[in-house]
Amino acid sequence: MISRRDYLKLTLAAGATLALNPGMLWAEDKQLELITRAIPSSGERLPVVGLGSSATFASVSRSDDRNALRNVLKTLVEKGGNVFDTAPSYGASEAVAGQIAEELNITDDLFWATKVNVAGWGGGKANPDTAREQIETSFRRIGTPVIDLIQVHNLGDVPTQLGILKEMREEQRVRYIGVTTTFPRQYESLESIMAREPLDFIGIDYAVDNLTMEQRILPLAREKGIGVLVYAPFGRTRLWDKVKGKDVPTWAAEFDAYSWGQFFLKFVVAHPAVTTATPATSKARHMADNMGAAMGALPDEEMRQRMIHHIAGL
Ligand SMILES: NC(=O)c1ccc[n+]([C@@H]2O[C@H](COP(=O)([O-])OP(=O)(O)OC[C@H]3O[C@@H](n4cnc5c(N)ncnc54)[C@H](OP(=O)(O)O)[C@@H]3O)[C@@H](O)[C@H]2O)c1
Repeated sequence: MISRRDYLKLTLAAGATLALNPGMLWAEDKQLELITRAIPSSGERLPVVGLGSSATFASVSRSDDRNALRNVLKTLVEKGGNVFDTAPSYGASEAVAGQIAEELNITDDLFWATKVNVAGWGGGKANPDTAREQIETSFRRIGTPVIDLIQVHNLGDVPTQLGILKEMREEQRVRYIGVTTTFPRQYESLESIMAREPLDFIGIDYAVDNLTMEQRILPLAREKGIGVLVYAPFGRTRLWDKVKGKDVPTWAAEFDAYSWGQFFLKFVVAHPAVTTATPATSKARHMADNMGAAMGALPDEEMRQRMIHHIAGL
C-alpha cells in the first residue's frame, strides 16, 4: 500500500512538477494499492506496469542520457515496479541497464525480460551455437545467474530457439520462456505456437487504438494460461500525436487516470489476459506517471468501450 503522500514524495523526487500537471496525481487523499497480476504458469505476481527499452536505452552516447536512464530505473523500483523488457538487438540496452542496476544495487529486484534471436525476422534458420552465445552474453550483461524471462524475438526460428530455451528452463537458468511479435502478419503463426508450445509468456503490441489481438490472441492466452507482456501501449508516438493539445476527459477520474499515459495504460492492463505492460520512457517523470497506472481503480468493460470510442473520435 502506498499513501498519496509517499507517492507525491517519490514523484517529486523523480522530477515531476505538480504545478505543471496538477491533475496527474490523485484527486482525493486516498490509499491506493499497487495492482499486480499472477503469472498463470506459477502464480508469482508482477506489477501491471513495467518498463520497456527498445529505442530509449538503445544509444547512450552522453553522460546526461545515462543519468536520465538511471533515474528512470530508480523510479521504476521506488514506485514498486520491477519488470524490465530488453533484448540483445536493442543496442546498448541490456549492457547499460545491467550496469545501472548493479550501481543502484537493484539487479535482484528487477524482473529481467530479455530475448533471443539470431535468425532474423524473415524465416531464416538460427545457428544453435550462435543463439546460445547470444544468451550467454545476455547473462553477462545483465549480471545474474538466472534470467527471469527469455523470449524468442519476433518468432525467429522458434523450433531451434524455443528448443534451447526449454532446455534452459529445465536447467533452471531461465525461469520463464516465451515468444514475441508486434507484426500482424505473424499473428497467425503466433496463435499456432501458443496452441502447441508450453509457453509461460507472449509479448505482443496492444493499445486503445490497436485492438486486433483482442479477437483471438488474448482469449487464447487466457485459455492456455499464458502470461502477456504488452508492448507499444502508446504505439510509440502514434497515440501521443493523436492527443496532442487535448485534455484527458474528466470521466477518466472514475478509474483514477489523470494523464494520457495513465489513460492508455489503464486501458491495456484492465484486459484480464494482460500480465504487465512495458512502456518505454527516457524520463523519470514519465516513469512515475506510468506507474500511476498501476494504482487505484481500473476501467470496467463498459468504460473500456467508451475509451475506444473517445480515442477513435479524436
Ligand atoms: N517484438 C518485440 O519484442 C517488441 C516490439 C516492440 C516493443 N517491444 C518492447 O515494448 C516496449 C514499449 O514499446 P515502444 O518503445 O515501441 O513504444 P511505447 O512504449 O508505446 O512508447 C514509447 C514512447 O512513449 C513516450 N512516453 C512514455 N511514457 C510517457 C508518458 N507518461 N508521457 C508522455 N510520453 C511518454 C516515450 O517518450 P519519452 O522517452 O519522452 O518518455 C516514448 O517515445 C519497447 O521499448 C520494448 O521493450 C518489444
